[in-house]
Amino acid sequence: MDTTRFVLSQLPPPPARVLEIGTGGEGTLARALDGADYDVVAIDPAAPQEEGIFRRLKIEELSDDELFHGIIAVRTLHHLTDLGPALDKIRDHLRPRGPLVLEEIGWDRLDEPTAEWFHRQQRALAATKGSEAAASAHELMAEWRDEHVGLHGYEAMREEIDARFRERFFSWEPFVYHYLDDSVATEALERSLIEADAIRAIGWRYVGEPSGK
Ligand SMILES: C[S@@+](CC[C@H](N)C(=O)[O-])C[C@H]1O[C@@H](n2cnc3c(N)ncnc32)[C@H](O)[C@@H]1O
Repeated sequence: MDTTRFVLSQLPPPPARVLEIGTGGEGTLARALDGADYDVVAIDPAAPQEEGIFRRLKIEELSDDELFHGIIAVRTLHHLTDLGPALDKIRDHLRPRGPLVLEEIGWDRLDEPTAEWFHRQQRALAATKGSEAAASAHELMAEWRDEHVGLHGYEAMREEIDARFRERFFSWEPFVYHYLDDSVATEALERSLIEADAIRAIGWRYVGEPSGK
């Protein structure tokens, strides 16, 4: 299920007011939610410079009196600097039982077998398409750690989330294929390797509601 369908499957039906945190420079998901008749506010310091649903601001800067029926963050939570206070703010902006819908990457879960598979597929892509590949799986892991240094890992995010939200849904998801292309790694292939315990899932999806509201 793609990101938009997953998010739509977890939100209350429209009309409903929803917030997307970290909409990115394209605002693709926010535009899809707008097209599905939601009342959308999509924030990000790098949001599209357009009137309407987009606002160029951080979650920390959102006015306290705004309330939403659902809040979504796709691959954004691990970037939030002060995660605990940011999640307090997210909880305060949610109506009771309003879902927090997350799609995330547990970058710290990349273990050796997963890195070896990632590297083999990266090399296959380099051989056919001339793209770049790390010299070894070991080097790929070192580069991966450097790219993510200072960002929150899975356990750290879960601890902060679980202190404030009650889980409604959770799934591990393929993620490495996003860095490759269909000629060497599809979502289905990565999922089957995860299910066979040959590699580890890096991606995850979570839905929770504020606890104690
Ligand atoms: C990896 S990108 C994901 C963008 C988009 N959701 C996607 O999936 O393509 C993370 C985004 O979070 C935004 N971001 C980082 N800190 C933020 C904050 N405190 N409040 C709102 N957005 C933030 C960044 O500007 C960036 O666009």
